Amino acid sequence: MSITPQSARVTSFLEKVEARTAKIGIIGLGYVGLPLALLYSEQKFVVTGFDIDQKKVDTLANGGTYIVRIPPTEIQDAKRHGFSATADYARVAEMDAIIICVPTPLNEYHEPDMTYIVNTVEAIAPYVREGQLVVLESTTYPGTTEEVVIPILEKGNEHGLKVTRSETDHGYFVAFSPEREDPGNDTVARHDIPKVIGGVGETATRLAEALYGSIFHRTVPVSSPAAAEMTKLLENIYRCVNIALVNELKLLSQRMNIDIWEVIEAAKTKPFGFQPFYPGPGLGGHCIPVDPFYLSWKAKEFDFHTRFIELAGEINNAMPYHVVSSVVDALNAHKKALNGAKILMLGVAYKKDIDDLRESPSLTIIELLQKGGAVVKYNDPYFAFVGKGRKYDLQMNCTPLENLGQYDCVLIVTDHSDYDYPQIVRESRLVVDTRNATKGITAPNIVRC
Ligand SMILES: NC(=O)c1ccc[n+]([C@@H]2O[C@H](COP(=O)([O-])OP(=O)(O)OC[C@H]3O[C@@H](n4cnc5c(N)ncnc54)[C@H](O)[C@@H]3O)[C@@H](O)[C@H]2O)c1
Repeated sequence: MSITPQSARVTSFLEKVEARTAKIGIIGLGYVGLPLALLYSEQKFVVTGFDIDQKKVDTLANGGTYIVRIPPTEIQDAKRHGFSATADYARVAEMDAIIICVPTPLNEYHEPDMTYIVNTVEAIAPYVREGQLVVLESTTYPGTTEEVVIPILEKGNEHGLKVTRSETDHGYFVAFSPEREDPGNDTVARHDIPKVIGGVGETATRLAEALYGSIFHRTVPVSSPAAAEMTKLLENIYRCVNIALVNELKLLSQRMNIDIWEVIEAAKTKPFGFQPFYPGPGLGGHCIPVDPFYLSWKAKEFDFHTRFIELAGEINNAMPYHVVSSVVDALNAHKKALNGAKILMLGVAYKKDIDDLRESPSLTIIELLQKGGAVVKYNDPYFAFVGKGRKYDLQMNCTPLENLGQYDCVLIVTDHSDYDYPQIVRESRLVVDTRNATKGITAPNIVRC
């Protein structure tokens, strides 16, 4: 094949990645984008982070951090390797690769809120240049890259540049590659999580494989961005549906006086065909309660009703209500009403040992308990204060973990490892445990729900 300027650009991109001289721009420096920026920085790439949140940009510029599990020393090391953060999109033009990691929440009608993706792509479109690679990582419905991202990029480019699907045409390259991180899960190192990639055309896939191959041990190419978008949703819907299944079986097991946790432990000894999922107070986080509804929304365009997703959502969304009715029953057994009861909630994060409150079921539970007249306080080593979130505005301060006997009920919603559960049980009058955190402790004041 003759060497055209574009194929020379492709070669140059691959050589720069190999030599670690490619400049990488990460847009959205949150739970996904900041760790990704640090991974590239560790591999000696010069990384520029872009964020509209000036407070985050300033914190990073000062060598600080805003994510508990990332110590400031990691930011300072990255800065020594050339990492910087900015809110100036004009600098996108300097990059060889741009990776977009902005939020994809649901709006008040439970539909995809695409404003973050749309605003980001509109902001970078003028600066995207020939031979650059643009990758979307945000979880979204199949079709987003081709139907939303590309039209905005093409409309907004100052030079009239278009996406190219081949090595011989002019333009820039576009791919989708979902983030698969599981915060707080240290069983698999981040670079051991295979990276799924779907490019718009084979060359885009090849460039994205080179880019991610420099930090991930394995890349998994698929035939299109839509296949990669759907892969991520399949993974999260699988979790959502299986958690709903086990939540439903927990409710039945309680009526039958069977311990579902014991059953799961026994079932998981089967060496094939079974993967354990655990019941809890409801779904939380930016992914599992949200992502499945991106697909059910898109499915409507195809006159298709995603019944598993809807049913799983119904069961999982009912779990905070189950927790509250369990508290009411437990108080009742102590001849106490919910109205006026003093309740200490342990853990507000959506899962153990992380500093993430998004979509946490604890917020719904607090609201329901307060509506029932309870006086609710919380303790969480990861949150000194709970202010305004997407749905709730609680304005509560963390209460010290002391004098537990003063509460009518201590409610375990998040099973952080820092807690001394035997001591909590010893000092409390009544413990309602939604996570089996008190496993192995036998005491009459524990109610597992
Ligand atoms: N958090 C996870 O564990 C996880 C795991 C897998 C996938 N994801 C997906 O990754 C994406 C990002 O999630 P996250 O948890 O990092 O979100 P986040 O809210 O922690 O971070 C997003 C960042 O993007 C910034 N931002 C918003 N609009 C911007 C814009 N126009 N330009 C520049 N920056 C902008 C925000 O200020 C914020 O710092 C989502 O689609 C999410 O579904 C998240």
